[in-house]
This record gives sequence, C-alpha cells and structure tokens, in this order.
Amino acid sequence: MKKIQIINGPNLNLLGKREPSVYGHVSFESYLDALRAAYPSCEIAYYQSNIEGELIDKIHEAGFTADGIVLNAGAYTHTSIALHDAIKAVPAPVVEVHISNVHARETFRHVSMLSAACKGVILGFGLDSYRLAVEALASE
Ligand code: DQA
Repeated sequence: MKKIQIINGPNLNLLGKREPSVYGHVSFESYLDALRAAYPSCEIAYYQSNIEGELIDKIHEAGFTADGIVLNAGAYTHTSIALHDAIKAVPAPVVEVHISNVHARETFRHVSMLSAACKGVILGFGLDSYRLAVEALASE
C-alpha cells in the first residue's frame, strides 16, 4: 500500500464554488472519492489549510512517513520560500500540482517558488492534474 498525502493550500477549500470557469464545478471532497476508488492500491490522505505555517507543518509530518506528497499550494506557490525549504527538508518526493495552466494566466502566476524543490510539476489538466500526480507517485 503506497501512502500518498495530498495537500491543498489557500482557497482550495472552495473548489466547486470558487471561480468555476477556472477551477470547475466539482468539490475536492467528491473528486477525492473518485480518486480513492481509482487507486485502491494507494492510501490517499487529504489535508487542506489556508495558513502557510500549517502547510509547512503538514509537509514536515507527512514528508517522513508518506511515499509521496501531491501539493497544490495555491497562491503560496508564487511567494513562499518557506514552503520551498519545507519541501527540501523532507525525504518524500513532492509533486507540485495546479488545476489551471498558470502560464496562460496573469504574469504573477508564471513564477513558482516551489518547482525547483519538487520532483515534478503537473498543471493545467483541471482536477485530473491530481490523478496524474498520484499516477506518477504510485508508479515510482
Ligand atoms: C492554483 C493556481 C494559483 O495561481 C492560484 O493562486 C490557486 C490555484 C491552481 O490550482 O490552478 O489558488 O494553484
């Protein structure tokens, strides 16, 4: 059983309601049910916080026990050196994920403070970006 931790950052608790033209109409909870059903060989844990320090704490905790982390840090992606350092501090591979294609949006979204610390990056495939990241970690 591979242990995979999904971590969502700020405003991603509002998936399904938040800017549906960008992020879709599906809540993360209902997407998660389908994802877990599609990967019975993985134990998929989920955590969401709007608080940067809590995201760092979760990376510290899961980063020594999980086989991989799927991280959508939301807007902290573009600002947080502290999250970059947290990713580097743990042995678990981290896949950076974005629902939208951040490179097709505002220029402030074109920069990621996290990518260089991550194993890989998947973006622009809607919620399916998470499945692609789980697939990558599950087949490691
Ligand atoms: C996002 C992209 C970020 O720029 C934005 O701040 C988010 C969501 C995405 O999944 O597309 O909150 O990470």
